[in-house]
Amino acid sequence: CVLGIDLGTSAVKVTAVTAKGEILAQEGMDFPLSHPRPGYAGQDPEDWVSATTISIVRLILKDKLVPDQIIGVSYSGQMHGLVLLDSNNQVLRPAMLWNDTRATQQRDEIMAAMGNRFIEITHNAPLEGVVLPKLLWVKENQPEIFRQAKTFILPKDYLRFKMTGRLALDYSDATGTVMVDMDHQEWSNEILNAFGIPEEMCPQLVHSTSETGNISAWYSEYSGLSTATRTFAGGADNACGAIGAGIDRATKVLSSIGTSGVVLKYEPNRHTNYDGVLQFEDHAVSDAYYSMGVTLAAGYSLSRFKKIFADKEDFAEVVKSAGKSAVGANGLLFAPYIVGERAPYPDADIRGSFIGIDGSHQRADFVRAVLEGIVFSFRDIFDIYERHGNRFDTVVSIGGGAKSPLWQQIQADIFNVKVVSLTNEQGPGLGAAMLAAVGVGWFKDIQECTKQFVRFRDVYLPQPQNVKKYQQLYHIYRKIYPSTKEITH
Ligand code: XUL
Repeated sequence: CVLGIDLGTSAVKVTAVTAKGEILAQEGMDFPLSHPRPGYAGQDPEDWVSATTISIVRLILKDKLVPDQIIGVSYSGQMHGLVLLDSNNQVLRPAMLWNDTRATQQRDEIMAAMGNRFIEITHNAPLEGVVLPKLLWVKENQPEIFRQAKTFILPKDYLRFKMTGRLALDYSDATGTVMVDMDHQEWSNEILNAFGIPEEMCPQLVHSTSETGNISAWYSEYSGLSTATRTFAGGADNACGAIGAGIDRATKVLSSIGTSGVVLKYEPNRHTNYDGVLQFEDHAVSDAYYSMGVTLAAGYSLSRFKKIFADKEDFAEVVKSAGKSAVGANGLLFAPYIVGERAPYPDADIRGSFIGIDGSHQRADFVRAVLEGIVFSFRDIFDIYERHGNRFDTVVSIGGGAKSPLWQQIQADIFNVKVVSLTNEQGPGLGAAMLAAVGVGWFKDIQECTKQFVRFRDVYLPQPQNVKKYQQLYHIYRKIYPSTKEITH
């Protein structure tokens, strides 16, 4: 078998998969996320390593996987996490995660210094959660640490380094640092020079299916894995999620509701540029790219709602209770900007709101408004794609949105596109296992592996009456951001 390691923001999940795409076993473990100050989000990289190792040990001892039969391992990782290493490859400070929004000033400095030229090179705007602005934050606020930093690395690549002893960064996560020249596929000297980032700090770039060394003797001792097990670079969680969801053409789009939410499109052409309004990254599939718009608090909006108002209840039941309300939540609207927003509004300071609360509203209306509000925020991203001339025939729903028939129907109605979900959805971990499956030679390429590994389940078609109602509501939803910007900042 091969292992797909999915290093997320709140937990790691390790999945053992056979050449037929069957899930042999799966283990996982949570780790803490600290918010020491508003806008700060950090993690101790050693927690990723120990949680992953405990999961692997359980696979071997509890699920009886035979180490010699684990022939390959690959990785999916939470994106944009900045890990700084000193000259002995020791971690210098807690990792600054993708949802850390402290670097607004540095983001603005980047745009002030380079403006559109920056977007021309990277095809991205420097959002505060990505690596470059955070590196500059460290440079300006913790110069002592920056001076000691020999290299930076991203979360899954740190984990792989601990397992193999080799440092490397794959293109799908590298392009997310916004320091890669998209057209030339190399670190951009122009950007590095402009902001005083030494090129030696940037790790070697590799492809997602590139071999990155065997399990080291040290890690073999620690985990029980064999030193004969090969590792392959892996990719950003969104790239791996797209692979695991069979997003293999430009008219099939991914709608993923995790802590954050993502609408992701397969891009066959590297020269496509959304002027930084959407993110644009290298895919984990060779010669392919993807664009995406991120809603910062998608599932997180719902989990906060549940925590505050329905803590003791079953999650699925709370979601299901929205069925007692009606399309449009009886006039109640929710904007999910509870930790700021990214697309289409790159605004760390905006906050969420319920609009139109009426004395007759019940809790079911509030739950439904949250489900709908998250999907409206995705609809904003669909709008950008439509304005660029894209049309979709299928939405593949994964994550929280795919667990509820009601939420899938809401998506079909708000997007006005057919929504499908996957059988036995495994998220980015399956994508990571697929990269290992190609790496070890079971398949010629990801496309061939997709045919064997990815299967679709339910289909939800847009209901014309609901579509009409949601179109009207969406016009009102769009007014929430400009109307609340001033009062919630
Ligand atoms: C994408 C992003 C999030 C993280 C979650 O740019 O920041 O989706 O990848 O891990």
